[in-house]
Amino acid sequence: MPKQSYYIVALPGDGIGPEVLHEGLRVLRAADELFQIDFQIEEIECGGHYYAEHETEWPDGSFEKCESADAIILGAVGHEVDGKTVFTKPGKPYPEPQLAGFAQVIGNRQKLDLYANVRPVKLYAGVKHKIHGELKQVWEPGKVDYVVIRENTEDAYTGQTNEVDGGKVTPILITRKATERVVRFAFNLARKRNQQLKVTCVDKSNIIGAHRFFREVFREVGQNEFPDLKLDYAYVDAFCQWQIRNPEWYDVVVAPNLPGDIVSDNGATTAGGLGLAVGGNIGDEHAMFEPIHGSAPKHAGKDKANPLAAILSVQMMLDWLGTRHEDDRLLRAAAKVEDAVAQLLSEGKTLTYDLIGEEKASRCSDVGAAVAERLQKPDR
Ligand code: IPM
Ligand code: MN
Repeated sequence: MPKQSYYIVALPGDGIGPEVLHEGLRVLRAADELFQIDFQIEEIECGGHYYAEHETEWPDGSFEKCESADAIILGAVGHEVDGKTVFTKPGKPYPEPQLAGFAQVIGNRQKLDLYANVRPVKLYAGVKHKIHGELKQVWEPGKVDYVVIRENTEDAYTGQTNEVDGGKVTPILITRKATERVVRFAFNLARKRNQQLKVTCVDKSNIIGAHRFFREVFREVGQNEFPDLKLDYAYVDAFCQWQIRNPEWYDVVVAPNLPGDIVSDNGATTAGGLGLAVGGNIGDEHAMFEPIHGSAPKHAGKDKANPLAAILSVQMMLDWLGTRHEDDRLLRAAAKVEDAVAQLLSEGKTLTYDLIGEEKASRCSDVGAAVAERLQKPDR
């Protein structure tokens, strides 16, 4: 059922996070206006810079706000002081030092059970790549269109590291429960996309026993519950070169957390770079959307960073909320935002430095304004 209003928690975070999220929210407000939706947006200051000042990553009660939100949207976390990344102190609040901003990214993923990290690898028409520092078109639009589903709660991300024989050991955890639900998510997505009806399992199961288990569960669930789908397998190292050479082979890819992290950045290379890459952290009850780029401290505060990944995160959020609440206004808004971004990319004029070079570059805020402006007419 459509809701009367939607409560959105926005976590700007660090570095370029606040400026790109600002443009994402500008587009969200434009969609709100056009489709008369009513978003209640609450911004919460957080991340590494907040930790550096307050020794906590966000104000008390912030997690509870995330928990009660209809959806969360995140900028980026990771702050530097004197060129060094800020980590939390041991025991405060985690046993091991963690990247300050851990509470927002990893904490929310784990505590809200956002078990599937959905990362589309899609090349839009007109997008050029920075190869050898030059902007060229290398891959063909239409031939780069698959989705990486990254398991989002375990693998090497348990936050534990233990002493061992004069060294350290970080465990790799793969449980049946987490694997079954994420592979089912991937199989269902392949059916919904109805393209190649194929799911590729990407892991390091030739070496890591826990990944072998991931692959076994993938095979079992696939064969028993999804006989209409093709099951495909790749080791992550080989996959990294196949996704560059033959991206057209892939439809839906599912991977444990760490290989999923790596192949989604690698895939972004073939789709215009990190400035365009988005991720939806999805669970059964909650979801958080974010650009997959980091906080890029060296570009912060310059109104220079590409806001399109943040804007496409808003697009994904609209689509998820619209589907979940059977709210056609949100689904139409999502389609319209994607059209607006695709138009801007194919025209190739109002874009940031990473897509058209420093000389012709527009500012971050100009790009946000250009997308928002295209949301003024109700033509679909
Ligand atoms: C990502 C990031 C995070 C991760 C970092 C910031 C902890 O790289 O969202 O992909 O490793 O998951
Ligand atoms: Mn990453």
